[in-house]
Amino acid sequence: MSHPTSRPLDVLPSGPLSGQVTVPGDKSISHRALMLSALAVGESRVEGLLEGEDVLATAAAMRAMGAQIERGEDGVWRVHGVGVGGLMQPAQALDMGNSGTSTRLLMGLVASHDITATFVGDASLSGRPMGRVIEPLSRMGADITASPGGRLPLMVRGISPAVPIEYTLPVASAQVKSAILLAGLNTPGITRVIEPVATRDHSERMLAGFGAHLTVEESDAGRVISLTGEAELRPQHIVVPGDPSSAAFLVVAATIVPGSDVVVTNVGLNPTRAGIYTALRMMGADIVELDPRLVGGEPVADLRVRHAALAGIEVPAELAPSMIDEYPVLFVAAACAAGRTVARGAHELRVKESDRIALMERGLTQIGVTVTEHEDGLTIEGSGGAPLAGSAEAVAVALDHRIAMSFIVAGLVSTQGVRIDDAAPIATSFPDFLALMARLGASIA
Ligand code: S3P
Repeated sequence: MSHPTSRPLDVLPSGPLSGQVTVPGDKSISHRALMLSALAVGESRVEGLLEGEDVLATAAAMRAMGAQIERGEDGVWRVHGVGVGGLMQPAQALDMGNSGTSTRLLMGLVASHDITATFVGDASLSGRPMGRVIEPLSRMGADITASPGGRLPLMVRGISPAVPIEYTLPVASAQVKSAILLAGLNTPGITRVIEPVATRDHSERMLAGFGAHLTVEESDAGRVISLTGEAELRPQHIVVPGDPSSAAFLVVAATIVPGSDVVVTNVGLNPTRAGIYTALRMMGADIVELDPRLVGGEPVADLRVRHAALAGIEVPAELAPSMIDEYPVLFVAAACAAGRTVARGAHELRVKESDRIALMERGLTQIGVTVTEHEDGLTIEGSGGAPLAGSAEAVAVALDHRIAMSFIVAGLVSTQGVRIDDAAPIATSFPDFLALMARLGASIA
């Protein structure tokens, strides 16, 4: 699950991108589909599951705790769940690879079962803070021993019955919210999470879809999500929509490469995820939604994207939760825009798969962009559409898939191309990325 051998990659300046491509399944929804199917009694089917390393880590962990999970030759995944309360003691440590979502959500599940699980991960994941889930799950009664700084490797000793809590999120995090709600599934009484700032709501939608008793109310304190525990989940047939976060790389590529005209099909546009498209349109991007529809209860459309001249903006901080994973590629769009882009209020970027503020500052500077680093974001002086210089010396991606894909997109509009030091992490979320880019006409060696 880790990448001991790094795979450097060169991207050459590109002519117009054209054609139609489909993005793979949504990563957040895929994790949740496997987890909830594994807790339902009976067989669930999942279509369009993202078969990236992060999601496969979740599948392996759920198998290790008793669920039967198989991929049919038709590409449909069949999951026989163990029922809420039925998770079994895993025989070995759970290898989470690079996946923060697997780690935090599964810690929640283990917390309210009478089992003990050790979580390990790669160097990137082992540097990420887990205190944000350790704290509420400990209040529910779990006994968690972590490495210094509240990091992996760590051990969760679950407890059953756990104690229901009411918890106001101190950071806007769908992973923390979801960890608590998943722990609440096997906890008697009502577990309540209050989020002052709304974050992606896939857990709430899917829990309700599986038949859990869950209510969401707006209050002065924010969104109040209440889940009644000792839930019985009914097996489902889930169709996973395409991932808006993965689509964003293709959309920005088509926007900044002159002459491009691309259709990206099956893009999930849940409002809690679609902030990047709002920001790009504010900058002048030409993105048209075709055939808007519902897939698996989530809004989806095909996006036709044509090259457009962009202008720098002040990125509204309120958009941060709905585009938190898209800042790296937004910074690339900003580097090509006319004028200055200021993105603040995105402090969480420091604790993603890498410190995305520091890494993007360093890499953009290396490829000839003028950037100023802030504690909570970047200010970028755009080129006004002129090609970026690029870099023959490899840009460091630090095991971060989104940094790798962002600099590949930047390389398309550079004079001398861009080299990244490692393309292997892309497989965590978007294994077909390079193939799809090549199909649109990009030159990647
Ligand atoms: C995710 C939530 C976000 C996001 C991550 C996936 C999820 O993390 O960055 O890629 O599936 O719940 P935070 O909850 O840490 O903001």
